[in-house]
Amino acid sequence: MGKQEQLAESLKTEWTPTEETILKRRSVRMYTKEQVPEFMINRILEAGRFAPSAGNSQPWKFIVIREPEIIKGLTDTTVKICKLFKSLIDYRRPGRRWLLPIAKFNIKVKPKDLHPVPFGACTLIADGKLGLFHGAPTVILIFKDVRGVSNPDLDCGIAGQNMVLAAHSMGLGTCWVGFVKLAFQYVLKWKQFFGISYPYKFASSIAIGWPVGEPDGMVKRATHAVDWYENDSKKTIY
Ligand SMILES: Cc1cc2nc3c(=O)[nH]c(=O)nc-3n(C[C@H](O)[C@H](O)[C@H](O)COP(=O)(O)O)c2cc1C
Repeated sequence: MGKQEQLAESLKTEWTPTEETILKRRSVRMYTKEQVPEFMINRILEAGRFAPSAGNSQPWKFIVIREPEIIKGLTDTTVKICKLFKSLIDYRRPGRRWLLPIAKFNIKVKPKDLHPVPFGACTLIADGKLGLFHGAPTVILIFKDVRGVSNPDLDCGIAGQNMVLAAHSMGLGTCWVGFVKLAFQYVLKWKQFFGISYPYKFASSIAIGWPVGEPDGMVKRATHAVDWYENDSKKTIY
């Protein structure tokens, strides 16, 4: 049996370490207070730096925050904005039906931000029922360079997921945190604090730390039909 055939044979019964990391990764929302060693964060950043990007434009800027006061400051700002959003457009509360037309208008203008899932989470954050960075001691902010070739958001997502998978492969926990976008979108203070201006725009962020317990395990996903063309025919797999 050739080397390639041997490898293919072993893959019939075993996941590769990369597949295991991908399949077992979960969003971790509870961390110990212990800080992650600096060299591990450097390795995680390196995984991000080596991500592919359109035209190799590498349209990102990473900022590492390990200062609890800064993490708290970003959290407080985001919570305040969530509270404001909730008070301005949450028409579901008793006596607030009159907010419905305003909510409808806002949903038209910002359909992604006000999709029921993020809006529900926004309400939970406003009510203190969902943390922002979940107590993680390290946060990596990802900013996109809007001049990136093609689609810088996609490139930042690829770089971010490289970092997430690298972190999980080291036994760390991570959680993507998109909600802190509100602090950069609506408050000038934080952009000034981090020196963010054109061509950079907030893309997303990743909370990193040592997980409490063992949250890893496969999580259910929808089965999307995949069309497959081969040998003059088409099949659909699930
Ligand atoms: C771009 C992005 C932004 C996210 N933002 C948040 C967030 O702000 N807060 C949070 O708790 N989870 C956030 N998540 C985590 C998702 O809720 C989570 O990935 C999804 O529910 C699937 O669960 P799993 O990661 O455990 O597989 C985000 C995920 C992605 C990819």
